[in-house]
Amino acid sequence: MEVVIAKDYKDMSRRAAILIAGQVMGRQQSVLGFATGSTPVGTYSELVAMYREGIVDFSGVSSFNLDEYYGIGPDNPCSYRRYMAENLFDHINILALNTHVPNGLAADIEAECRGYEEKIRLAGGIDLQLLGIGNNGHIGFNEPADFFPAWTHLVDLAEDTISANARFFASPAEVPRSAISMGIRSIMAARRIVLLANGAGKAKAIKNMVEGPITPSNPASILQIHPKVTIIVDREAGAHLA
Ligand code: F6R
Repeated sequence: MEVVIAKDYKDMSRRAAILIAGQVMGRQQSVLGFATGSTPVGTYSELVAMYREGIVDFSGVSSFNLDEYYGIGPDNPCSYRRYMAENLFDHINILALNTHVPNGLAADIEAECRGYEEKIRLAGGIDLQLLGIGNNGHIGFNEPADFFPAWTHLVDLAEDTISANARFFASPAEVPRSAISMGIRSIMAARRIVLLANGAGKAKAIKNMVEGPITPSNPASILQIHPKVTIIVDREAGAHLA
């Protein structure tokens, strides 16, 4: 694991965007794995700026998002599909048909999950997967458990996660209690992983991920055995590291 302590949120975002842009420059047909949430917003705006400056061209890129709330359609303002459109896809030249987010309204969940893995496989696998981390150590929506969930699956969100997500919804009753998420194997199969975290609230999760035991009760700890992981944190999130 390579750990980079960035000066602040802007520096963390810029460093992540540079890694992603470098990946795309090196391989125009790159397959990128994207995350949502507060953490990568700055990275996406740096990428949009790089695109506008002519530094990076996304026309050959395909993307797969980690997760989507279950029971929420793409037009719902809280959906991750909408988040990606607003923060990235609508501002760069990635082709809409090359962007993939699990379908939160799928009637046949098993078929949706199998089909999602198949699409990743047909695209050639993920070259670079961007991740955030939950306060409880989740990656994607793989919550603490007594096993590592393998592939894309339907997840019951942990109470921690539901309350952390509530800030994006008008009322607590609207916060989804389940989601479709790539599994730990889907994430670990990516050729390169870049995980971001900022703020003091993430310091404990970062320390446990980097220095704690590898255990499904702390899903992010599995990243210790991935051969190519870069963790980029701001000073607050990195504060407890030895
Ligand atoms: C989002 C995702 C989650 C978030 C995590 C951190 O697609 O998979 O694992 O990365 O919950 O969220 P923020 O960035 O909002 O703190």
